Amino acid sequence: MKAPRIQPSSRLNGVKYEIRGPLARRASELEKAGYEIIKLNIGNPGAFGFRAPETMRLAMIENLREADAYCYQKGIFPAREAVVMQQQSRGVFDVTADDVFMGNGVSELILFCLSALLEAGDEVLIPSPDYPLWTAATILHSGKAVHYPCPPDRGFVPDPEEIRSLITDRTRAIVVINPNNPTGAVYPLETLKAIARLAEEHRLLVFSDEIYDQVTFDGAEHVPLATLVKKTLCATFGGLSKVYRACGFRVGWVSFSGEKGGALEYLQALELLASLRLCSNVPGQWAVQTALGGKQSITDLTRPGGRLWKTRQAILDAVAESPYLTVQAPEGAMYAFVGVKNDVLPNFDDQKFALELLERKHVLLAPGTSFNVPYKNYFRVTLLPDWETMREVFGRIHDLLREQYNQTNHIHDTPRSAEPGPVPQPPLKTAPGETLPDDDSVEAH
Ligand SMILES: Cc1ncc(COP(=O)(O)O)c(C=O)c1O
Repeated sequence: MKAPRIQPSSRLNGVKYEIRGPLARRASELEKAGYEIIKLNIGNPGAFGFRAPETMRLAMIENLREADAYCYQKGIFPAREAVVMQQQSRGVFDVTADDVFMGNGVSELILFCLSALLEAGDEVLIPSPDYPLWTAATILHSGKAVHYPCPPDRGFVPDPEEIRSLITDRTRAIVVINPNNPTGAVYPLETLKAIARLAEEHRLLVFSDEIYDQVTFDGAEHVPLATLVKKTLCATFGGLSKVYRACGFRVGWVSFSGEKGGALEYLQALELLASLRLCSNVPGQWAVQTALGGKQSITDLTRPGGRLWKTRQAILDAVAESPYLTVQAPEGAMYAFVGVKNDVLPNFDDQKFALELLERKHVLLAPGTSFNVPYKNYFRVTLLPDWETMREVFGRIHDLLREQYNQTNHIHDTPRSAEPGPVPQPPLKTAPGETLPDDDSVEAH
């Protein structure tokens, strides 16, 4: 007998998460066939040898006996209180432990926050490019994702007046991702102030995704949006996944500040959703207090000479040498959103390129269109591999782009290995006699 067809819900129509989509599945097939694939599609620190700080593991082990039971639906008190103290240290004073929810990663909380808010057809302002879960979660809850442009020619920074023009009487919320995934932009204070005013004026709920808050380069300053939003509700998202390299712990949080008077029912709805899943991962929550206090080891990785900094530099150097590529130096987060020059390769198609790069050069990256942009000439790489690997990756990218260029322009090709080329040098820019601190430690502490 033929098995009955099981149809997925039509609610999932239009919901996508291509970072783990068909390209990633093809990469797994190639791996199973014995090929070694360099996978740069996901910001998963553990997959690149990064470790969570040791003291976080110790805190978890020390409290494992306290972690058998379900905990309170919003999370354990020490973790929520640690988030309160972190917010206070940043100048956000109107958050109490009661206003903090712990979740199985920020991902779960994004789903809760939109689920508790949206009626069919409600609109959410989301950056383009975005971290695609925001768009997916909006569609999943029958909302309409309205993308506001953060274009390359403005350094991926949004224009508040353009955002204003997209507001309708169905707009309920605005999502801000800062530092930004995938672009690495860190928004200037003036832009954030203008967005805060706009949200207050139109009574929009502000969803500020700040999961990369401490991952900044070359002195870029991250301003918590909650310090600027007072007259409307502001939800700030943070977590252990990136800053603390502990994404497998599945710990994220959201804290509510600003105008909470009218938000009682919304916060109760959120608590109901949190209760329906009983609680989030308890052992992981025991690492939060330790993580958030004291020395923040991420700075050892982002400062000049640190591992993330060096890989970022390797990308900047490779792009500077390339006739095909362009990039805005990422000021924060763990990615570079690299453009292919339209005037040099006018027919470039990010999806086709990503598939060809995977099949022929064994590198997996995320095409730009996975991040809800209308243009097809960008791709995202994560900064997590070491700089030598990144140098190799950009060598392979260069080879493929040159092949495409030569084909289009009917030029006879020579393979890279046959060409005399400079021996790769560490991407540290130092004056003679000057030394930069060298830190390749991935268990920076
Ligand atoms: C901007 C942004 N928000 C949220 C998440 C989800 O993080 P998690 O669920 O691991 O806390 C990610 C993960 O890459 C992200 O880049």
